[in-house]
Amino acid sequence: MTVQIDHALEEIRRFRPSPEFAANAVADSALYEAAQADRVGFWADQSRDLLHWDKPFTKTLDWTNPPFAKWFEDGDLNVAVNCLDRHVEAGNGDRVALHWVGEPGDTRDITYAELTDEVKRAANVLTDLGVGSGDRVAIYLPMIPEAVVSMLAVARIGAIHSVVFGGFSADSLASRIDDAEASLVITADGGYRKGKVFALKPVVDDALTKSVGDSVRNVLVVKRGENEVEWTEGRDLWWHETVATASSEHEAQAFEAEHPLFILYTSGTTGKPKGILHTSGGYLTQAAFTHKNVFDLHPETDVYWCTADVGWITGHSYVVYGPLANGATQVLYEGTPDTPHPGRWWEIVEQYKVSILYTAPTAIRSFMKLGRQIPHAFNLRSLRLLGSVGEPINPEAWIWYRHVIGGGSIPVVDTWWQTETGAIMISALPGVTDLKPGSAQVAVPGISIDILADDGTPVEGEDGGLLVITEPWPSMLRGIWGDPERFKETYWEKFGDKYFAGDGARRDADGDIWLLGRVDDVMNVSGHRLSTAEIESSLVAHPWTAEAAVVGAADETTGQAVVAFVILKASQAAQVTDVAAASEELRKHVAGQIGAIARPRQVFIVNELPKTRSGKIMRRLLRDLAEGREVGDTTTLADTSIMQVISDQVK
Ligand code: WT7
Repeated sequence: MTVQIDHALEEIRRFRPSPEFAANAVADSALYEAAQADRVGFWADQSRDLLHWDKPFTKTLDWTNPPFAKWFEDGDLNVAVNCLDRHVEAGNGDRVALHWVGEPGDTRDITYAELTDEVKRAANVLTDLGVGSGDRVAIYLPMIPEAVVSMLAVARIGAIHSVVFGGFSADSLASRIDDAEASLVITADGGYRKGKVFALKPVVDDALTKSVGDSVRNVLVVKRGENEVEWTEGRDLWWHETVATASSEHEAQAFEAEHPLFILYTSGTTGKPKGILHTSGGYLTQAAFTHKNVFDLHPETDVYWCTADVGWITGHSYVVYGPLANGATQVLYEGTPDTPHPGRWWEIVEQYKVSILYTAPTAIRSFMKLGRQIPHAFNLRSLRLLGSVGEPINPEAWIWYRHVIGGGSIPVVDTWWQTETGAIMISALPGVTDLKPGSAQVAVPGISIDILADDGTPVEGEDGGLLVITEPWPSMLRGIWGDPERFKETYWEKFGDKYFAGDGARRDADGDIWLLGRVDDVMNVSGHRLSTAEIESSLVAHPWTAEAAVVGAADETTGQAVVAFVILKASQAAQVTDVAAASEELRKHVAGQIGAIARPRQVFIVNELPKTRSGKIMRRLLRDLAEGREVGDTTTLADTSIMQVISDQVK
């Protein structure tokens, strides 16, 4: 009986492409066929089609030394020219590249010609400051046009950017600056968030006193927040006094396809973030290909909006590189969705007639909670495609997104990928593939994936296991900055030449893929990756803490939430009489050390942690507690009565 009901639901919850959409779709099933027939040749064709190569490549893939891949190795290109100059040269200089919206309500429309000029000016300033090919530049900016300009200016001169999300603390920024040995930091006085100015320059000043290296020579500062900032003469420069007055003559040099483009730090299973390294030609090929085909981009008519911050990989690939390589017109918004009113996003959609919207399930679920009357106060009929990224989207949220935001009949694409993959790997193609709420569905053409059992044997048919990528792909990470061993260990040790993503996945009867979340000690909070180990070491660094264990507990809005269990030092426990105040202090401490995104939802002060006989903390049991469930099997605990003690304490 149940089986039949499930089956019926499954039937309803599958949507065929509408004939009208399919008729004008960018993608078609020939893409799958071409990739199937000759995978490597397919990527070569796509790359030639989508990009301008100053020196065409003749070799497509070198995989003779796995896991170190080389794509389009003997070709030369300039990434920034591909995103800017060539569109101007093609006669599209007057097309708007960015409809920028500041949180307080100020706006700027920037055309491709203007953006190209600004990037050339910034490139000249960087060169004057002694930044050259291969040098690292840290970017710590709010969502303002200068963030995009900075990234492209760095790329234009062959330097390497490391964008650090503006919500990270001085300590996090300092460790990233040190790891990459950045010689320049680009920041702003401050930016707007929730109606207030949040200061950035003071965080950079603080980070530079905390930094253990002395790599930074200059700090370039955009005036945005109008907050007071301190100034270090000789080191600090204003953007408006340098970039704005620089020459917009700049001849771009072409670089090899494997020239590094950027480093982006992401959390792993240890306390130390990994500097994920991406290079030029392959990365740009797959970012442009997926942006065009997954989002059905018609650059002449679409207005595209990806709500991600440039501090994350989604902002790199689907705010900067993919859309600009494809000559798209897009919205860039500085602030939060609910400032100054909860309909702010929908007001922007109406005002700019946004046709493609790409956001995260956590945002969708927040809007669901507020109710449909908020989006429905605005005209959303310009929307014709919706995308989701960052975590599994539950079918209810998918259906709500499609109906309430999308009006009931437009495609919703759920896109699975990672900082490491650089670009979308699993997604439906709108107009081609059927859509199934809750499932990321199928590998993008040219991408090969599989599901393996723990021993490495492929899982057959309708079953679950570990998601792997079985063949190298153009936008794959090329390594971890300064740590080739960690690169091998983290992703390649488990299954040899197959890339292990760290996610569990299940295949259904149609062969569609359902993502099941991380299988390692990595949490996903609001689509952002956090490491349990990193937060634990931050907690232990507090003078009160003896021991800490952190778990990701299911959360209705954010997907997962950080929940910490802390044992206080005996010497401190006596002084800490107010448990609520102590856990508040520890929450603040983590936010201060790592950044507000890492602030635990709850910190429980306990006397014990559940450990196995070998001393390993059983996080599974803590997760049961944090999620308010019956505690599971405790037989492997050294002391089986411990869970009762702990659960009495967290009540
Ligand atoms: C992890 C990667 C990709 C940009 C944003 C996050 C999870 C991402 C999905 C999805 C289910 C997803 C995975 C992955 N994830 N997209 N559509 N369905 N899970 O990038 O910080 O590198 O995190 O996010 O667990 O491993 P990231």
